[in-house]
Amino acid sequence: MSESIWRDVDTFVEATVVRGDAALQRVLDHQDRSGLPSIAVSPAQGKLLQLLARSINARRVLEIGTLAGYSTVWLARALPAGGCIVTLEIDARHARVARENFALAGLEDRVELREGPALDTLAQLRAERSAPFDFTFIDADKASIPEYFEHALMLSRPGALLVVDNVIRRGALLQAESPDANVQGVRRLHERLKVDPRVEATTIQTVGAKGYDGFLLALIK
Ligand code: SAH
Ligand code: DHB
Ligand code: MG
Repeated sequence: MSESIWRDVDTFVEATVVRGDAALQRVLDHQDRSGLPSIAVSPAQGKLLQLLARSINARRVLEIGTLAGYSTVWLARALPAGGCIVTLEIDARHARVARENFALAGLEDRVELREGPALDTLAQLRAERSAPFDFTFIDADKASIPEYFEHALMLSRPGALLVVDNVIRRGALLQAESPDANVQGVRRLHERLKVDPRVEATTIQTVGAKGYDGFLLALIK
């Protein structure tokens, strides 16, 4: 079993059920032409995020880690009229490309990009007593995942869904002594959730165009 078959299966899935469109492809093209890293979610994963957000009728979505806005566009399209996605990005160049992409996709009215370190922006959102979020996608630096999760939880309504990307990292999740802050971040989140009475969670391992990784899903009680 090799990564090439995972990729081929994703290609088949993209060509059949995912139904991406030209606007989504333009977002990725602009990401690549601008020299941003190719670390956006895959099309099948973007569609999964969209279906999850739609299935809980999410009206307010929070995203931590925008890059060029590819996952943002999938999520923004899940929103009903009047809905909104707030997406947080630290890198000014990524933010500029993302803003151009939201214009390309005709979604400027539904997307609010806040530039700066996510921990600061999350603290600001809490201080502003921002209306509660229904759905959160955590996909920025992995070292701060437990802190992002705590902020997002405090900014969410009961019944809200939180999805965390890249929690398996080819199995690196198991390396208790890893010096990698990213690995320690995803480990710490799991250890905290073991004793957190506020959420029910699971972690799903994935293979595909993005290799071997996984998502953590948590539902706020
Ligand atoms: N969600 C995107 C991919 C995000 S990649 C998609 O699937 O299309 C991770 C992003 O998080 C990068 O753009 C990186 O600049 C940003 N990031 C890293 N550290 C951050 C921080 N402390 N605060 C906000 N954004 C951060
Ligand atoms: C990588 C992948 C991601 O989805 C991400 O959010 C950050 C990094 C990576 O492959 O390095
Ligand atoms: Mg990711």
